[in-house]
Amino acid sequence: MVDKLKVGIFITLTILFICYTFYLYRINYHYPTKVQLEADMGKQIWQDNNCTACHQIYGLGGFLGPDLTNVFSKLSDEQISVKIRTGNNIMPSYNLTDKQMKELIAYLRSLNRSGVAAPSKLKFNIDGTIER
Ligand code: HEC
Repeated sequence: MVDKLKVGIFITLTILFICYTFYLYRINYHYPTKVQLEADMGKQIWQDNNCTACHQIYGLGGFLGPDLTNVFSKLSDEQISVKIRTGNNIMPSYNLTDKQMKELIAYLRSLNRSGVAAPSKLKFNIDGTIER
């Protein structure tokens, strides 16, 4: 008798587990959009060219150049691509194709959306909300 009860509980829990798992994956899973894929390619370009040697993201990275987490809100696409293509006396110039540049900028855009580099500059409101 007891064994039947145990088996019943086990089967019920297993079914619930499977249903819940399907439910969670269904609500959380979103297909990567074209924009997301572009940003991922841009991240690869960022890594291949070792931009982190001189630039930080969220304050982490080399300190020869500025933090680029929010560069997208500071400069236009054209300004960013000119900076990367021409370089300066410290930064080398990068001869990227238009497609690579678009992807790199998509990555910088996604970084900008994901947060701010200097949380200490955020404004904390009395009701607990945070403003940029
Ligand atoms: C050898 C060091 C070095 C490397 C490697 C480097 N940079 Fe830079 N970068 C700099 C420096 C230094 C500046 C700041 C120049 C200035 O203020 O005039 C800069 C400026 C920039 C700016 C303009 C930022 C601003 O606020 O004006 C962008 C965008 C940028 N770099 C992107 C990149 C990307 C993308 C890569 C990788 C493909 C990269 N950099 C690799 C040193 C580097």
